[in-house]
Amino acid sequence: MASHSFFLCTLLTFLYLYGITAVDYQVTTDVPNTPGGIRFTNEIGIPYTKQIMGTSNNFIWSVIFQQKNPSDQKPIDSVHAYIEEFKDPIGITWGNNNINFSSLYIAGFNGDVKREFTSVMYHEMTHVLQWDGEGTAPSGLVEGVAEYTKLKANLPQPGFAKPGDGDRWDEGYDVTARFLEYCDGITPGFVAELNNKMRVTYNVKYFEELTGKPVHQLWQECNLDLVGVIRPRSCQSFGFITFKVEQSLRDTIEGMNGQSLDGRIMAQSGGCGDCGVMQEAVDMEEAMNVETVVMMVDRSYYSRGCDWRS
Ligand SMILES: *[C@@H]1O[C@H](CO)[C@@H](O)[C@H](O)[C@H]1NC(C)=O
Repeated sequence: MASHSFFLCTLLTFLYLYGITAVDYQVTTDVPNTPGGIRFTNEIGIPYTKQIMGTSNNFIWSVIFQQKNPSDQKPIDSVHAYIEEFKDPIGITWGNNNINFSSLYIAGFNGDVKREFTSVMYHEMTHVLQWDGEGTAPSGLVEGVAEYTKLKANLPQPGFAKPGDGDRWDEGYDVTARFLEYCDGITPGFVAELNNKMRVTYNVKYFEELTGKPVHQLWQECNLDLVGVIRPRSCQSFGFITFKVEQSLRDTIEGMNGQSLDGRIMAQSGGCGDCGVMQEAVDMEEAMNVETVVMMVDRSYYSRGCDWRS
């Protein structure tokens, strides 16, 4: 008996120290006999929902917000999910710790509804656990953080924004999630630290405090196309290729330098004789004694005075 309670006591101390405070998960199906309720029971179910609420909660605390210390975490002792009949949105977080999920969406979803449900649950659980500057953070940022969780959990829906998509950093959802991913690439742990900073209030300066760059500059850089210039030796003009992903451009440079090109790529070229980049390409060709040069240039190179696209 004594060793039994000793074990329990040790276990509780362990749980307390590691912040694995037990959160109680509840699920209520308010419309079990509707098509959505029936599909929920058959293809998702209450036990799986409780399990995924726990898994996502731990993932968000440990990976997304990196809150090892319980005092950093949003104090939550229970989360309640309801399957309800409503049209829009798909899911909604309300009160402090409640999630409503649309049975109509479940009924109408075309495809793997369990994966879709899981993905939306990661989004809604983020809303339960995130700090939003007590309501002062831009809603686009709040939604972006929730989609960022989805992205990092490898649960984005088909059609999720690609890096560089969108018009504004705080456009919300997947666009902002990609932007946050970019910021996290500059400062590892960015999203976790930004969330911690937003515990009581929000300030756009947090971006600069964490990365050294103001938010508008980060957005500009995140959206920059990487540009490669192709200049075959035998020709007095050159072409451009643009990439979003630096590695793709580097691979192209690696693969194409020194190769001869057919006329197809040169169809993109224009006369830009006065751009310094032209001379640079010529110099490189001579130095390397190759047929073709492909190199990476700044976007401003081809926007500055080069109207090759017109
Ligand atoms: C969610 O469902 C509950 C239970 O029916 C309801 O009381 C609540 O108003 C709903 N919340 C929202 C935000 O729709």
